[in-house]
Amino acid sequence: MTFTLQPVVPNAKQTGVDFGAIVEDLDLETISPEDFDKLFEAVYTHQVVVVRNSGHVTPKTQYELTKRFDPQNIDLYGHGSMHRSSESVISRDISPLPDVPQVQLLGHGVVKNHYGIDERKLTHPSHTVFHKDCLTKEQMDKGETRFYRWHMDAALYKLNPPKVTTLFGIKNPEPRREIVRYDDGTDDQLEVQLGTTAFISGQRAFEILPQELKELAFKTQVKYAAHPYLWMSKAKARSTGLGMVSEGKELSKEELPEIEPEHIKIYPMLWKNPVTGKIHLQVHPAAVEDLIIDGKPVGDLEKVRDILYKIQRPSISPENVFAHEWRDGDFVIFHNRGLLHSVVGSLKDTDTRIFHQCNIASADPPIPATEADFAPYLNVKSSA
Ligand SMILES: [Fe+2]
Repeated sequence: MTFTLQPVVPNAKQTGVDFGAIVEDLDLETISPEDFDKLFEAVYTHQVVVVRNSGHVTPKTQYELTKRFDPQNIDLYGHGSMHRSSESVISRDISPLPDVPQVQLLGHGVVKNHYGIDERKLTHPSHTVFHKDCLTKEQMDKGETRFYRWHMDAALYKLNPPKVTTLFGIKNPEPRREIVRYDDGTDDQLEVQLGTTAFISGQRAFEILPQELKELAFKTQVKYAAHPYLWMSKAKARSTGLGMVSEGKELSKEELPEIEPEHIKIYPMLWKNPVTGKIHLQVHPAAVEDLIIDGKPVGDLEKVRDILYKIQRPSISPENVFAHEWRDGDFVIFHNRGLLHSVVGSLKDTDTRIFHQCNIASADPPIPATEADFAPYLNVKSSA
């Protein structure tokens, strides 16, 4: 007998959530080859698959399962070993497990005697250390919060993005409700469970674009900064967590470790889903240094960010966000090359959250959407 996939049932306001699936009856410790094949296809079809009742899954199983999604991978954590990691905006939020260092411990509160870690104080990332303008303490005390940072899990320098990420919610804080504020001149807001992980579909992000932006996206390549997480370490994000504010705070070439030009990543803006063949808009906005449109670099960071915001902002509107309501033991597998996700929530000192995360850099670059893939989206001109 195999397992059952139940598509996520969004609430009435979430008219754009057409992705996500829940599995109640699958044991990841004893998954059969046939069920793994079905799970593999499900992750690329539904983008996010939540396997419930997985509290017993070990770090070793999490690592091996993650690796199975990309057997040719290079066996290195998605961010590799980071230069000057104490300054990076990534490594301050995670700790590798001593016995399975590809699996990262993250969360909030003090964790004791945990898979080889005697004691560790974890801090849930807060927008207050990353956004330019922050909520007040009063706002946070009454349950208002922000999307921390919309991203895919990827080094974006030297290493190719992991194909999937596994995110395992071992322990969650009490399920208080919070309101995510956008504060970008709109009244947009979204009610979520404390400590939710928010996802948006890259496929929908592409589909909802007006024709001219679809065409712009198709002819645009995205150039990521060298050592992007150090480069952006002094800069601040927009209030939606979707990309950065331009204040000239990015580190200069002289302030960064040596840059090897062959390691700089330039990817298309539109990536093809290897299972469904669908087009996904896939950009990590905070790490972008330039856009190359029709072969010509824009060359102005503020302009680059404005273009990106125009293209990406519709995708994070409240109706398009799947904010997963974690239960203890939820093991989430997501298509890291087909969606963006964000940490959310303003946790208190008394809240505890324990998660394991794993993703592995890939030997393969993303698959670009080709002329043939894009052809159905071109305006069909009537012939006389
Ligand atoms: Fe992430």
